[in-house]
Amino acid sequence: MTDAPAGSLRGRDLLSVADLSAGEVNRIFDRAAELKAEFRAERRHAGPPLVGRTLAMLFQRPSLRTRVTFEAGMNQLGGHAVYLTEDVVMGARESVRDVALNLERFVDAIVARTGPHEVVVELAAQASIPVINGLTLREHPCQALTDLFTLRERFGELPGRVLAFVGDGNNVYHSLALLGAMLGLEVRLAHPADYSPSHRIVDQARAIAQETGARLVFGRDPAEIVRGADVVYTDAWTSMGQEAEMEARRDAFGAYRVDDALLDAAGPTAVAMHCLPAHRGQEITSAVMDGSRSIIWDQSENRLHVQKALLVEILGG
Ligand code: CP
Ligand code: NVA
Repeated sequence: MTDAPAGSLRGRDLLSVADLSAGEVNRIFDRAAELKAEFRAERRHAGPPLVGRTLAMLFQRPSLRTRVTFEAGMNQLGGHAVYLTEDVVMGARESVRDVALNLERFVDAIVARTGPHEVVVELAAQASIPVINGLTLREHPCQALTDLFTLRERFGELPGRVLAFVGDGNNVYHSLALLGAMLGLEVRLAHPADYSPSHRIVDQARAIAQETGARLVFGRDPAEIVRGADVVYTDAWTSMGQEAEMEARRDAFGAYRVDDALLDAAGPTAVAMHCLPAHRGQEITSAVMDGSRSIIWDQSENRLHVQKALLVEILGG
């Protein structure tokens, strides 16, 4: 990363949501709301802010939403994105460091989707240009930023809102727990005994929550955990890179399915979220995904607007 002026996101990496302050998150949200309104009205931006800027997208895992929203987002902002996948496997054809030392000479920023979180940390340490985490096994910061932006749109003020995550204490949960703690939510998790979130992340989120008045709650029983929640959130039982565990996970998570009965247990105004891709009939039913209580498609659309805001904050000016 490069040196940024105090209080600015210019030139900064985004590896974890905890790299941001609450003020910076709110600035991203405000800018995302402006960009969304302008794009929805005009399908274009007057005076696009990133003309001549290039983003390298280094993806070691498949993607629909993250890839298309960053690529389309760069185009809509006047810039350009280069998608790199199996040609550039960091640590195989070239080391992480050598990839960084090349890309920093060609482009203005990198979005990286890697398996191990350490790879994205190493890439950011070696590259003099900003690196954005496009998902690792530890965190998915762009997703959590989008999710809480979507909830701000839906509910207005966030402090005190209750988000109940049902399923695996995974990368998406980790980022939601950290960001939810920062923004004063109550973040609950119902998970099977053998699939706990990272203790390090939970400790970090608890420390943040102590400062903000947020709450973290854990349990085994999905119906109990969702009671009174504003949002019931779920994600795949098996994340990318864990495919060898798929069968064991299918058995362990059988009772952690978001269906209409579970939404009813949450309460009459609860909404359903899923970061996608979904496995219909496993962690979520089609009836919930396509039903009137789903805000999943707004959530998906907002990836575009929030990441554009992030790109303008990091690369603009
Ligand atoms: N939610 C999400 O990141 O989707 P992709 O894996 O398709 O990018
Ligand atoms: N937890 C999922 C999220 C996909 C966007 C995974 O890592 O595969």
